[in-house]
Amino acid sequence: MRFLAACRCQPVDRTPVWFMRQAGRSLPEYRAIRGDGSILKAVANPDVAAELTLQPVRRYGVDAAILFSDIVVPLAAIGVGIEVEPGRGPVLDQPFRREADLSRLRPIEPELDLAPVLETIRLLRAELDVPLIGFAGAPFTLASYLVEGGPSRTFGRTKSLMHGDPATWHRMLDALAENCLASLRAQASAGAQALQLFDSWAGSLSRREYRDFVMPATRRIFAGLSDLGVPRIHFGVGTGELLDLMAEAGADVVGVDWRVSLQDAAERTGRHLALQGNLDPAICLAPVGVVEDAARQVLKDAAGLPGHVFNLGHGVLPETDPGVLQAVVDLVHEESVR
Ligand code: CP3
Repeated sequence: MRFLAACRCQPVDRTPVWFMRQAGRSLPEYRAIRGDGSILKAVANPDVAAELTLQPVRRYGVDAAILFSDIVVPLAAIGVGIEVEPGRGPVLDQPFRREADLSRLRPIEPELDLAPVLETIRLLRAELDVPLIGFAGAPFTLASYLVEGGPSRTFGRTKSLMHGDPATWHRMLDALAENCLASLRAQASAGAQALQLFDSWAGSLSRREYRDFVMPATRRIFAGLSDLGVPRIHFGVGTGELLDLMAEAGADVVGVDWRVSLQDAAERTGRHLALQGNLDPAICLAPVGVVEDAARQVLKDAAGLPGHVFNLGHGVLPETDPGVLQAVVDLVHEESVR
């Protein structure tokens, strides 16, 4: 299992590779099955969700599967009115703006609220011969959707609540962290062999904001997973200035986007953690030879790391040619032989 070995900084025969958003609109077989309904409906159907998880594993021969679900699934499951709009992302009719809104964040009971997701994991473990990654949205990234009511560029309302009413902010993050931890632990019990925390939008924060308003909740999640012995991956976009703090928050693997080289990321994270990344998903739209050169550069930058999991710096873009991703998987496997 070279993916799990790399996460644990153990020796590997080749560099493992998988892609964030490897299941998705860039695959014709995904579009054929997904249909037009909400992604939340697909996630609630274990046969469909298992099949969508397996498609990229079969096609590309990647070294890990990531559960087909979404970071907002646990929020929808506890009755926060949230939908995922195609081409836009998560949206709420009634965003969270004041203390009273926190009553809508009830504690999750994973065996009941996430029953279809846990069933999907059980189905997958019977089928897969590569490790299965479970995941959750981190408290800050989920809070940003709850407060903004949808995707945001500036996170103005989120930061306004954070700074203007810190007591409510911390209560909200604590409640999100509890649910996140419960969801991740339940995924591991059902069979997930690694867990990734997506704090996708943490790169919008200053170091001080991250340390004071976000890191305590994140730290509690990683501490609360430590007895499981399952590799914990911590990912965000635009987090170059936060990588040392993200490493301190307690994961085993830190995800790095394309803005920072893996060499620099290794310096910033203390050279004792595995790193995951960091080919620019936008470069994957270029001619295949260009993409291959960029992938080679990532492998070169990773030389000497204690552990490296090859990935993109963020998710696969929908317009990506699957043939290009196939070429990247093959190149990583062929050119990283130890
Ligand atoms: O293949 C995989 O990576 C596994 C499945 C997965 C999805 N979402 C499925 C999905 C994972 C790991 C996620 C995580 C997720 N969801 C994140 C964190 C990762 C990141 O990209 O930063 C975030 C921020 C979300 C919220 C979200 N859900 C967004 C921004 C969108 C895109 C909206 C769009 O249509 O462009 C979604 C929808 C979504 N989640 C899709 C998929 C495959 C695409 C639309 C669909 O098929 O319905």
